[in-house]
Amino acid sequence: MSQTAPIGIFDSGVGGLSVAREIRRLLPMEDIIYYADSAFCPYGDKDPEVIRRREIAIVDFLLSQGAKMIVVACNTASSTGLDDLRKMFPVPIVGMEPAVKPAVAATRNGKIGILATSVTIAGERLASLIKRFAEHVNVITQPCPGLVERVEHGQLDDPETEKILAVFLKPILEQQADTIVLGCTHYPFLTPLIEKIVGPNIAIIDTGEAVAKQVSRVLNEHNLAVHEPRVGQEKFFTSGNQVEVAKVIGTLWSKNNVHVETVPLIQA
Ligand code: SIN
Repeated sequence: MSQTAPIGIFDSGVGGLSVAREIRRLLPMEDIIYYADSAFCPYGDKDPEVIRRREIAIVDFLLSQGAKMIVVACNTASSTGLDDLRKMFPVPIVGMEPAVKPAVAATRNGKIGILATSVTIAGERLASLIKRFAEHVNVITQPCPGLVERVEHGQLDDPETEKILAVFLKPILEQQADTIVLGCTHYPFLTPLIEKIVGPNIAIIDTGEAVAKQVSRVLNEHNLAVHEPRVGQEKFFTSGNQVEVAKVIGTLWSKNNVHVETVPLIQA
C-alpha cells in the first residue's frame, strides 16, 4: 500500500467532519476521502443491522478508491459495526468511542453528562466503558433525537436548535454535572451553543483531537504515513444530494466551492 494513498473517513452525514478537521490539522500532508451517508442519516434511530450493512458498503467503496486506512467518524456506527469491520477488512480501522475515561479524569464533583444518539446510549460499547471507568461516578446519559438533523441542515446557531439543546441539557444541569461528553461527532459543531447554555464552568469533552492522534500513531505503526512535504487534498462523496451536501460541507469545512460527488451504494 502506498504512503500517499488517502485516509478514508465516513459518517452518517457531515458530523464526521469534526474528526476530519482534526486529522487535517494534525496531518496536513495526508489526502482524505470522506463519505457522508446523507441519504441514510441519521443512523441514531436505525436498526443496528441496517447501519452495519451501510458501513460494510461504505468501507468497500472507500477501499475501491484506494484508502490505506479507515476512520469510522461516527459514534453510532462505531458502536454497532467497528468489531465486524475490523474482522472483515484488511486495513487499519480507527473508530470513535464516547470519552468516558477523560471525563472521569476531568470531573471535580463526580458527575458527568453524556450526550449521544439513542443507539449509542443503548449500545454495549458505552455500557462497558461506564462499567470500566465510571462505576464510582454519577453518569447522566442523554439521548438527543433531532440534533443530528440540525447539524445536517447547517442550523448550528439558530433559536430552534438552542431550544432543543436546552431541553437535552436540562437534566444534566439539574443534576449538576460539571463535565459533558459529546458522544456524537455532529455535536462538536454545536459547542458554541452548548457553552452558551451551560456557562463557563462546565467542561465539554470532544474526542476529535484524540482520534486524530490515534490515526497518526496507527499510520506510523503500519509505515503508512506521508513523510515528504506536500499539501494533502480532500475528496467528498455522499449518498445524498450533492448540491445540498456541498453547501453544508462548505460551511463546516470553511471552504468555498466544495465539490461533492453522489455515489449511492447499495440500498440497505
Ligand atoms: C447519527 O447519525 O445519528 C449520529 C452519528 C454519530 O453518532 O456520530
